[in-house]
Amino acid sequence: MIVLGIETSCDETAAAVVCDDRTILSNRVLSQIEEHRPYGGVVPEVAARSHLDHLDTIVKDAMAEAGLDYDALDAIAATGGPGLIGGVMVGVMAAKGIALTTERPFVAVNHLEAHALSARLSDDIAFPYLLLLVSGGHCQLLCVEGVGAYRRLGTTIDDALGEAFDKTAKMLGLGYPGGPAVEQTALGGDPERFALPRPMIRQAGCNFSFSGLKTSVRQTVEKLPPGKLLDQDVADLCAGFQAAAGDVLANRCRHAIVEFRKLHPQGNTLVVAGGVAANAYLRNRLQALCEGEEMKLAIPPQHLCTDNGAMVAWAGIERFRLGRSDGLDFSPRPRWPLDPNAPTAAFAGVKA
Ligand code: KG4
Ligand code: ZN
Repeated sequence: MIVLGIETSCDETAAAVVCDDRTILSNRVLSQIEEHRPYGGVVPEVAARSHLDHLDTIVKDAMAEAGLDYDALDAIAATGGPGLIGGVMVGVMAAKGIALTTERPFVAVNHLEAHALSARLSDDIAFPYLLLLVSGGHCQLLCVEGVGAYRRLGTTIDDALGEAFDKTAKMLGLGYPGGPAVEQTALGGDPERFALPRPMIRQAGCNFSFSGLKTSVRQTVEKLPPGKLLDQDVADLCAGFQAAAGDVLANRCRHAIVEFRKLHPQGNTLVVAGGVAANAYLRNRLQALCEGEEMKLAIPPQHLCTDNGAMVAWAGIERFRLGRSDGLDFSPRPRWPLDPNAPTAAFAGVKA
C-alpha cells in the first residue's frame, strides 16, 4: 500500500510518499520560518497564503522523488485538523482534488494522531505505549492504545511548552523559532543563578502549566538593570528556563507512567514526539527518568518529530488498512481532540 500524505496545519508545507512496509519514498518539507520571522511567530493568514503558493510544487516534488505516477497511490491523506484553519483547508482541498481525479480514497488525518503514530513508522513500536506530545501547539500525555484509541492523561492548562520556549526566546531577543536558540544559548549558562518556578509539580495528576514560568522569566528580566541584559544573563536565563521545563516534564511523566501502568501493566515504552523532542537536554532528562522507571524511551528522528508529511501518510496508512477513509464532504477541523472523553481541565484557555 502506498499513500501520499499532505501536511499544512502550521508553518510547514509538506508532502511525502510512504509504503505500508514503513519505507519512506519521499518526504519534502518547506519551512515558512523566514516568512514569519519578522513577526516573531506564525501569522495564520501569511501561513495559509504561503501553503497555497507552494503546496502544488511540494506535492509534485514528493511524487517525482518517489518515482511514482499518481495511479500508483492507494490513498491520499491530509491533515484535517487541528491547526490553523486556513492552512488545513489548503491541504484538505488539494488532497480531495487529487483523490477525485485519481479515483482514490481520501483519508483525513488528525495531526495529533500523526505525531502519536510516528514512532510506529520510525521504530515499529507496538500498542499500547505512553506518549508525551510536546510541540509549539500542544503539550499532552496520552495512552496510545490503538489507531483511533487514545486516553488523555494530562494536557497543558495554558501554554504549550514549545510556545513557552518561543516566547522566552522572544523576550530575550533570541529570535524565532525560539526552541533551538534557547537550547543553544543555555549551553553557556548557569541553571541555578535565577530561581524560576516549576509550575504544577506539587499537584497530583499529569496536567502542565508553562505560562507562570514564562512570566517569571519576564519579571526576572525586568529586575535586571534596564537596557543592560548581558550575554551571560541571557544564557543563565535560558539554562534556568530549560532546567525548570525539564523538572516539570520529568515530574509529569513520572506521574503518567504510574497511571499508564495501572491501565496497561505490560506497557513499557514512553514515546516523545513533536518539535520540542528535538531538545537534547530534555531528551537526556527523559532518558534518565525512563532508566529509573524501567521504561524504554523511543523518540522518532528529528525529521519525523517536527511537522512533516511522512507522519501524515503513515497515519493515513494505519487508518486506511483498518478500512477507514473519509468522504469528500469532510470539513476541516480547527479543534479535534484525540480523546473526546477527556475531562476538561477547570481553567480558562485550556488547549484541547
Ligand atoms: O511539532 P512542531 O514542528 O510544530 C508544531 O507546533 O506542531 O514544533 C515546533 C515547536 C516550536 O515551538 C519550536 O520552538 C520547538 O518546537 N522546538 C524546540 C526545539 N526545536 C524545536 N524546543 C526546544 N528545543 C529545541 N531544540
Ligand atoms: Zn505538529
